Amino acid sequence: MNKKTVISMVVLTMMSALPTWAWKGDIVVSTPKTSLVLHANEGGSLRFSYFGEKLTSNEISQLKGTSMDLNQAAYPAFGQHDMLDLPAIQVLHADGQWTLYPTVDDVTTQTEGNATVTTITMTDKQYPVTLKVFYKAYSTVDMIETWTEISHREKKAITLKRYDSGHLAIPQGNLYMIHMHGNWNSETYPTCEPINPGLKVIRNTDGVRNAHNDAPEMMLSLDGKPQENKGRVIGAALCWSGNYELRVNNSSDNRYAHFYAGIDPQTTEYILEPKEVFTTPKLAFTLSNEGMSGVSRNFHRWARYEGWLHQGDQTRKILLNSWEGVYFDINEEGMFQMMEDIKSMGGELFVMDDGWFGDKYQRNDDVTTLGDWMVDKKKLPNGVASLVKKAKSLGIEFGIWIEPESSNTKSEFFEKHPDWVLQEKNRDLKLGRGGTQMLLDLCNPKVQDFVFRVVDDLMTENPEIYYIKWDANCALQNFGSNYLPANKQSHLYIEYHRGLIKTLQRIRAKYPKLVIQCCSSGGGRVNYGLLPYFEEFWTSDNNDPYQRVFIQWGTSYFFPSNAMAQHIAHSPYWNTGRTTPIKYRTDVAMSGRLGMELQPRKMTDEEREQSRRAINDYKPLRELIQLGNLYRLISPYDNEGIASLMYTNDAKSKAVLFAYRVQYLYNMKTPRIHLAGLDATKNYRLRELNVKVGSEPSPLNNKVFSGKLLMEQGLYLPLLKDYNSCVFELTAE
Ligand code: GLA
Repeated sequence: MNKKTVISMVVLTMMSALPTWAWKGDIVVSTPKTSLVLHANEGGSLRFSYFGEKLTSNEISQLKGTSMDLNQAAYPAFGQHDMLDLPAIQVLHADGQWTLYPTVDDVTTQTEGNATVTTITMTDKQYPVTLKVFYKAYSTVDMIETWTEISHREKKAITLKRYDSGHLAIPQGNLYMIHMHGNWNSETYPTCEPINPGLKVIRNTDGVRNAHNDAPEMMLSLDGKPQENKGRVIGAALCWSGNYELRVNNSSDNRYAHFYAGIDPQTTEYILEPKEVFTTPKLAFTLSNEGMSGVSRNFHRWARYEGWLHQGDQTRKILLNSWEGVYFDINEEGMFQMMEDIKSMGGELFVMDDGWFGDKYQRNDDVTTLGDWMVDKKKLPNGVASLVKKAKSLGIEFGIWIEPESSNTKSEFFEKHPDWVLQEKNRDLKLGRGGTQMLLDLCNPKVQDFVFRVVDDLMTENPEIYYIKWDANCALQNFGSNYLPANKQSHLYIEYHRGLIKTLQRIRAKYPKLVIQCCSSGGGRVNYGLLPYFEEFWTSDNNDPYQRVFIQWGTSYFFPSNAMAQHIAHSPYWNTGRTTPIKYRTDVAMSGRLGMELQPRKMTDEEREQSRRAINDYKPLRELIQLGNLYRLISPYDNEGIASLMYTNDAKSKAVLFAYRVQYLYNMKTPRIHLAGLDATKNYRLRELNVKVGSEPSPLNNKVFSGKLLMEQGLYLPLLKDYNSCVFELTAE
């Protein structure tokens, strides 16, 4: 037999094993208020027809064969579709062929909890590659998750060059996009820009802190410059903790723009073995006609009640964290004193931050000891146990800081396991924080075990630990794993995160009630890839309340308030030099998960009294603030001098309003605050909360206004000095 005959026989055998059936028809994915309509012609590819307000079956049939139907590729494959449409998937086959022509074979639906999962199976009829595209639509909230499974039965491995989680076709109009930008100490500044011609790419390749600079979420406004409480806005979040790429392509067609999101393909080429199934991360998306706040509320509800935030339907305790109070200066007496102080102000939890561990090497700064998770007996001669005991005797809970994914060059860990850190063959190590920090090789199951045991040992020795702050301060900057085979080094970023998630899943299986904070040099890891395993995140290392108004605003676009840690700090603040009144500091911290991060011994009597008052007023409203429906009213980014937001309960019988002066020039116009989300027909009594120590409550205190007046006429709040602020409770009568 010559070579040609052998090849044709192989192809024929492959072909005979391929499915010959085809599927045709409409696929309707529904949430309470939206419809996503897809369709396939017999033997055809999957087409995207419509995503918007919910349609009747009659309206769906009206789409057919008309320009109402967007008729765009739903999951464009390289080769199959117009080259101007960017592909969502591109593979290199074992024989060097690099196109893919998937057509729809089968569509199934099944119920999963509060959702219906639609599975669309597609195969390429010449090459045995199977794609399963999933859409999971909730009946409780307008959210859809989409993802893809890729597998094949070719003789040898194929290479995934690109493998997006999802794609949306968006009809042209006055389109805008809003994405987050920031840095350490200045996370999550929303950037709003028109969708101009061309391709816009948002990427992150830090490997660990995937939300510090840009973030894997985006909003797309369909009705011009987006507003908080009006207009149609799509929100999308890639639920992944590693590198990613979001693309908005507005160059292919004058009728459509396209949005794509997935793992960053440039840093991960994936070699897929025959029969191996590759599952992309999920892309969660929603559409609201109640503006950006409407999108946020959908994300918050989904996160809290559909498992995307661990113990998401629960409220969080009020804590004091030791970091900015004592930094590495940990000792038993000092910790006892901080516990007594937070207890005396009404707090419920004390968290001992960095600096408590190490035997051979002491952790007095950030250059040594990570990896040596034994208690430093010189600092804490009676161990963690005596701290837990002290907390218990005070009637508060105890928490502790760890950074289990890292080590320092000076550590017993690195002396014992030099091959357990990520490193490039034949090259020097690149070092992170303190010039000594390295990331462990979480691709390696032995390292995953080690990280699991950091938590397990702490919890076994001290089962009453209530809270762990899990930090991660090092980028993935050594691009090599001793564990991965030579031909799969390009899987590093994916295997690291798979290893991390496996470890977190083990921890969660054993410790479902433990409260764990996701910290990463502040808000570096605020993403839905990790939040299913964490109760909350550290929003930013920047605790300056003025800058926090801006940071918390952007963070609330996608993340709920019970996850957002907000701490009262010292003033003047160390990184901005800004001096702010304690009333402002407490009012800003109260709008999310309230906490403190300072040395109570250095507080003035006024600061203590104001903090006590804030905590006391916060407690009965905790559920409303942490689990309520958020309405952002006036943005600090709109230069109106005021920022304001509020929460309501589902019954619209209770609300809480926050307002902050963010700029003041004498005689500048002060906007009225138009409340939202109230019942126009109800009357609400106002009560001022956290009244400034030494002042009388506002003249608005105890006044009653209808919901209509509050929303239509709006409240005038005379915040006529720099850093003025106020908080009101509203109760329907
Ligand atoms: C990071 C965290 C801080 C603190 C320090 C400790 O920077 O973001 O909150 O825990 O590490 O080293």
